[in-house]
Order: sequence, then structure tokens, then C-alpha cells
Amino acid sequence: MTKTERKTAVVTGAAGGIGKAVARRFVERGFRVILGDANTAGLQALAADLNASGQNVWHKSGDLRSKSYCEALIDHSVEATGRLDVLVNNAGIITRGNILETSDEDWARTLDVNLTAVFYTCRRAIAHMKAHGGGSIVNVASCWGLYPGPNHPAYISSKAAVASLSKCLGRDHAPDGVRVNAVCPNEVNTPMLRTGFERRGFDPDTAIEELNRSVPLGRIAEPEDIADVICFLTSDAARYVAGTAIEVNGAKPVY
Ligand SMILES: NC(=O)c1ccc[n+]([C@@H]2O[C@H](COP(=O)([O-])OP(=O)(O)OC[C@H]3O[C@@H](n4cnc5c(N)ncnc54)[C@H](O)[C@@H]3O)[C@@H](O)[C@H]2O)c1
Repeated sequence: MTKTERKTAVVTGAAGGIGKAVARRFVERGFRVILGDANTAGLQALAADLNASGQNVWHKSGDLRSKSYCEALIDHSVEATGRLDVLVNNAGIITRGNILETSDEDWARTLDVNLTAVFYTCRRAIAHMKAHGGGSIVNVASCWGLYPGPNHPAYISSKAAVASLSKCLGRDHAPDGVRVNAVCPNEVNTPMLRTGFERRGFDPDTAIEELNRSVPLGRIAEPEDIADVICFLTSDAARYVAGTAIEVNGAKPVY
């Protein structure tokens, strides 16, 4: 594959559990990847690892609550590699607590990171993709955005909106050659899940062993289980998949 034939993917939240796995999968498939995250040290470590075999990735750290960062991350793909073929909006935060426990700041922060940043990056990316022969976008929502679980109204509202936004954009921009889809995981073994257990005083390994028993397929997801579905959705094998939200949950319903 020559340099110009290599496609480019932008991945947000690349220093996190699912984001790292997605970035790694794209590099394995010959993509160049633009890594975004607020965690600069995490991005630097991942970039050093993924660039050990040549220039495969570039990284740009920043806060997705800033519109200018969202747009600059998309622009960086074109500046660094001359192209933008794929966008994976993976970054997210989980805000726990029922509505009485949710402050104005909790609500605003959750919607800003989980939803408004997706609006900004999608708008910038779709404008570019439409003008350059198309592309593919995957937004990471959640099963909880489709079937609300208890005591997470801010998180669930943001993820429901991301699933819905993905379906809207998938429908509106299919004629432009841009396929937009959402992936909806249930529980995944990442820092987001593990730190939640730690904060509540549980040992994460023991808690996950217990959680594994609640999943019909026998275990909660590993980040690679989700990354593989994301990569599939951006590949030519998924050329007829657009405007949908795919559940990746080991057959576990939301209780
Ligand atoms: N882990 C799960 O059980 C689970 C289940 C369903 C959906 N999801 C979704 O999957 C996605 C990835 O989650 P994960 O489990 O890998 O979590 P994670 O916490 O391991 O990674 C999330 C990443 O997003 C980054 N991020 C957060 N806020 C940011 C901001 N303002 N600006 C820039 N970067 C920011 C963090 O630094 C982190 O590296 C999230 O959207 C999450 O909601 C996770």
C-alpha cells in the first residue's frame, strides 16, 4: 500500500479502554490514525507504541468541551495526512446519580462531552467527506441509551441522543456517500467501568467476575470486542449499513 492509498481515521477518547483498542485495530489494518484525548500522557504513550514500526499515528490532545478543539482535531487529519476517511466518536464520560443527585454542572458537562462534541466533529467531518468522495462515521452510544437503566439520567439522555443523531445523520448523508452508524455496548472491561467499582469500594476483578455471570454469552465485553464491530462498520464489508445503532451486548438485556 502506498502512502497516499492509506486511509486515515480520527479516534476520540483514544487513550481510554475502547479507544486504544480501536486505534490499534486501525493501524493493524493499514490505516493512519489521528488520536484525540484530554489525557496527553496517555496519548503520547500510545503514539510511541503505535509508531514503533513507522509513522502510523499523530496525536492532538485537548478538551472536547471546546468547539475549536473538536474542529481542529478533524482539520488535523487533513493537515497531517491529506485525508479523512473515518471518524470514531468514542470519548465519553459517565455521570452517576438520579436527577436529585445531578447538579446543573453534571448535566451540562455530560451533554457537552457526550453529545455536543459529537455534533461538532460530525459536522466538520461530514463537510469534508461530502466534498471528497464520502467516508464513514461511528459514534459510540450505549445500550443504556436505548433501554434506560436506573439512576443515570444525564448519561442515558446523552447516549440516547447520540444514537438518534447517528440515525439522523446516516439517513441525511447516505446520498453524500457518508455512512453514519452508532455502536451500543453494554458493560465493557475498561477504566470507565473499573474506576466506577473502585469508587463504590468494590474490587474491580471480583465485581467483573460477578458481572460475567449476568451475561448470556458468559462474560462482559473486552475493548477489542467493541473495536472489531467499529472496524467492521467502517469497512467495505459494511457498505450497505447506514443510519443504524448496533447493540453489542453478549445478549444481555438492560435491567
Ligand atoms: N465501559 C463501558 O462499560 C461502556 C459501556 C457502554 C458505552 N461505553 C462508551 O464507550 C466509550 C468509551 O468508553 P471507555 O469505557 O473506553 O471509557 P474510558 O474512560 O476508558 O475512556 C474514555 C476516554 O475519553 C476521554 N475523555 C473524556 N472526557 C474527555 C474530554 N472532555 N475531552 C477529551 N477526551 C475526553 C478520557 O480521557 C478517556 O481516555 C464512551 O463513550 C462510553 O460512554 C462504555
